[in-house]
Order: sequence, then C-alpha cells, then structure tokens
Amino acid sequence: MLTATAEALSNIAFIKYWGNRDQALRLPSNPSLSMNLAGLKTVTTVTFNPEFKEDRLTLNGVVATGAALERVSRHLDLIRERAGIALPAQVESGNTFPSGAGIASSASGFAALTVAAASAAGLNLEPNELSALARRGSGSASRSIPGGFTEWQLGRAADGSDSYAFSIAPPTHWDLTDVIAVISAAHKATGSTEGHGIADTSPFQRARVAGAHDRLSACRTALLARDFERFATVVEEDAIAMHAVMMTSRPALLYWEPLTIAILQALPTWRAEGLPVCFTIDAGPNVHCLTPSAHAAEVERRLRALGVPTVLTAPPGPAASVVADR
Ligand code: DP6
Repeated sequence: MLTATAEALSNIAFIKYWGNRDQALRLPSNPSLSMNLAGLKTVTTVTFNPEFKEDRLTLNGVVATGAALERVSRHLDLIRERAGIALPAQVESGNTFPSGAGIASSASGFAALTVAAASAAGLNLEPNELSALARRGSGSASRSIPGGFTEWQLGRAADGSDSYAFSIAPPTHWDLTDVIAVISAAHKATGSTEGHGIADTSPFQRARVAGAHDRLSACRTALLARDFERFATVVEEDAIAMHAVMMTSRPALLYWEPLTIAILQALPTWRAEGLPVCFTIDAGPNVHCLTPSAHAAEVERRLRALGVPTVLTAPPGPAASVVADR
C-alpha cells in the first residue's frame, strides 16, 4: 500500500512573511527567517488507496470536511500530478500541541503533509523541492522542512521552484528559547491567507518590504554571532513593521489584546533589569518571548505574574522527516 508517516515542527518567524507577489503560487513579497519549535509537532499519515472514492481527512481524530479538506486535497493534487498517480488519499493528522491554543498549525501541518504524501507517492525529492512544494500549501510551511534556523529565499523563477527555505544553522547553534504567552485560544477572525491578500492595501507595505532585506541580513548576522542585543532590536522592529501593515490594511487587522500590550510594555523594563528577552507576534494576540534558555523559567514566571494563563516553551528543533514504520 502507498502509505507513509511524517512529522514536522511549527516555526516562529524572526523576519516575517506577510504579503505575496503571487498569491496563487504563494510567492512571497519578501524573504523571511525563522526557527523550528521543538515539541510543537504535527504527525501525519497519508495513504493512497484505489478503494477510496475521495480524499478523507481527520485532524486530531475528528473528521474534517469543507474548507480544511479542500485545502488538503488541492495540495495532494500537486503531489499526485508530480507522481503521475490519481489515487484518493486518507490523511490522518495530529498535533502534539494543544489545538486551539492559538499556535498556527498550518506550517507544521503542510510540512508534514508534504513529506508524508511525497513519500507515500514514491517521489524521491530533495529537501529544496520538498520545501518549495510545502510552500504551495502554506507559505510558512516551507520553513518547517529544513532543520534549526531557516531562511526562505524569494526565488526568481516564475514557477516558484527556487522559492524555498534552507537551514542557516542547526538547532544546536544557539539555545534560544521561545516562551510563548498564550493569550487567547479563540479562532482568528481573519486568517493569514486572507491577510496576505490585503497586505498591499496598506501604504506601509511597500516600506516594510523595502526594509525587509536589510533586516533579514542584520538578523542572520546577529543570529550567527549569537549577538542577542542586535538580534532583539531587529526582531522587534520587524514584528512591529508587520503589525503596522496589518493595522493599516483595508480592512484593518488588529490582532492584539490588552494582555498583548501589557507584555510589550513590560519587556523594556525586564531588559533594563538585565533579563535578555525580546518579543515577536504572529497573526494573533500571543506574544512569543525569545530568550536564551537559561532565562526561560524567569520569563515564564514574569509572564504568569502578568496574568498570562498558558505558557508554552520551545527550544530550536530539527527538520521535517519521514517516521519509520510504527
Ligand atoms: C504572521 O504561512 O500561515 O505567521 O501561506 O496563507 O498559509 P499561508 O500563510 P502563513 O502566514 C504566516 C504569517 C505569519 C508570519 C510568518 O510566519 O512569517
């Protein structure tokens, strides 16, 4: 039987992907850089079976239909086309992180789906090809294919074949930890895909994209030198630039909650007291506090003292991979 299981981690971007130059192919307006999050994992089994009438999907044991199934089916079509097969598939996917904790599962989900489906279909693809393929399902999934700290390059090819992510440092390079303040588990009113689609309506998107290249190289340099201070400055600048675009899009997107702002206001004080910590925020209210691992427990303690109900901690993690037969 054509079956395979794969696992992939979620990631947190230090330099953000926001807006596409080609929405259908998910070709980004700017390059981005991220870290895979160990422990925040999706495990997916794909089985192609001639006896099925149509694709089936279960997410954390619950049958999924509608838009979620559609998006998975469209992604499987790319892999079927490439492998020259026309078989329906059963997809069983589960996350090791609490679903509904506001942690995006599209990155780990589409990375695991891509690796499992390609393997089940008998395709023998290079990591770069897997990353470019995962990108078609969800842009940030391209960065969950390689391990550790990864960079998603723009690419030049019209078909997007060279818009993929590669590793710039292994997980062991820097013991940076993502201490995630989970502020709301509520489902996002406007998801990333829609958000990318309206990024260009903000007058600030052009300026954000123009500056992204310099911020990315500054971030890469700081990361490779393990220079926390420089890293912190550019990561916070980049997150704020993305949220400025979100807030000035039409319609405007405001993802922050009061507790989000309370954390942003507390961080400079914590830093002044000698705690090395900085923030980044995705398309939601959660605050990702980045700190060397030695300080993670203290950051968590302070977040809880501010009233943060749930805190998750994730160090850098490895590449997506096929899981041996279980
Ligand atoms: C704010 O990769 O979730 O997290 O391609 O539509 O699935 P789709 O979007 P997605 O966008 C991620 C946006 C972000 C920033 C980032 O991860 O770079």
